[in-house]
Amino acid sequence: MPTTRRTTLKALGTTGVGAAVAGCQAGSSVDQATERERQESETQPTKPTAERVAADPTDVPEPIDRDEPKHHEITLTVEEVRAEVEQGVVYDYMTFDGQIPGPMIRVRQGDTISFTLENAPESVMPHNVDMHAIYGTGGGAEATHVTPGESAAERFTATYPGAFIYHCAVPNMDYHISSGMFGMILVEPKEGLPEVDREFYFGQHELYTDKPAGEKGHHKLDMEAMKAEDPTYVLLNGEQYAITPKKYGAVQAERDETVRVYMVCGGPNLNSNFHPIGNVWTEAYRDGGLASSPEEYLQTVNVPPGSCMVGTMDLPVPETIKLVDHALTRVARKGMMGVVAVDGEPNEEVFDPDPNA
Ligand code: CU
Ligand code: CU
Repeated sequence: MPTTRRTTLKALGTTGVGAAVAGCQAGSSVDQATERERQESETQPTKPTAERVAADPTDVPEPIDRDEPKHHEITLTVEEVRAEVEQGVVYDYMTFDGQIPGPMIRVRQGDTISFTLENAPESVMPHNVDMHAIYGTGGGAEATHVTPGESAAERFTATYPGAFIYHCAVPNMDYHISSGMFGMILVEPKEGLPEVDREFYFGQHELYTDKPAGEKGHHKLDMEAMKAEDPTYVLLNGEQYAITPKKYGAVQAERDETVRVYMVCGGPNLNSNFHPIGNVWTEAYRDGGLASSPEEYLQTVNVPPGSCMVGTMDLPVPETIKLVDHALTRVARKGMMGVVAVDGEPNEEVFDPDPNA
């Protein structure tokens, strides 16, 4: 049975791990707490496992088509799971609803949201959620602080539009975000977004582990690598080359369609230099700033950790579009890439791959 908030907060006070506010602990004690969390996760006898943590990029809520505000009841559940980064490489992830990035939440400016964060009973760590769409202390992090088996609720109004990150913000927040705890809440402007043919949802983040990329076995958090901001893996949707033919398959589109990509960068430390190889962002909203007019024909959009990008692509030719961080070592050696496969008849006027044929 879930314990009450009051009981668990009191219990936390005696151990001093989760109750400390970020920035109030000395560096070394944060390190010790992180190390304790890692060891506890590592040695958990009944550690839940997952076949897949990569979010399905096509799992995007329907566009909003209404003129009136609405009330939403939204629940996210924190699940700590052991899963593969790539074949034979295992990591103890922390997730919202078992997926990376966490589920995309979609509301309209002016909507009200009753939000509940649950922490699975199998968890070993406290968690919370800071949503950048919220006016309130810690973006709701204090209100949603939950220990294993506990749940906490908050209510807010989405007063301003944009695409915003949500993420865990406990004192060891870099460890938690690096382990997968981030996602997007989209607050559509009152007038809505232009209609497109398809929408996709991606999230980039990085893992800091104690073994080189590709070395088989159980990779643990490497605190020193994290402090040096020197990751082992840089990932799109939580696993090495997850959304490519190599793993779960590319996402599909058809020639002459317009597609919109929602991208959230969890970090915790690296910016994404987000570029569609073989295409361009026809329209892009930096930092998810949907209240402003989009910029046009941007090649590589900087998406800082703790921020988002919304971009559209036109698809005048059939092609394979690779979504990359244009800091390309991350693509060649650290696992970062997604693929959009565009089917259709050739369009030689725009691109002829073999003009002498
Ligand atoms: Cu957390
Ligand atoms: Cu934040």
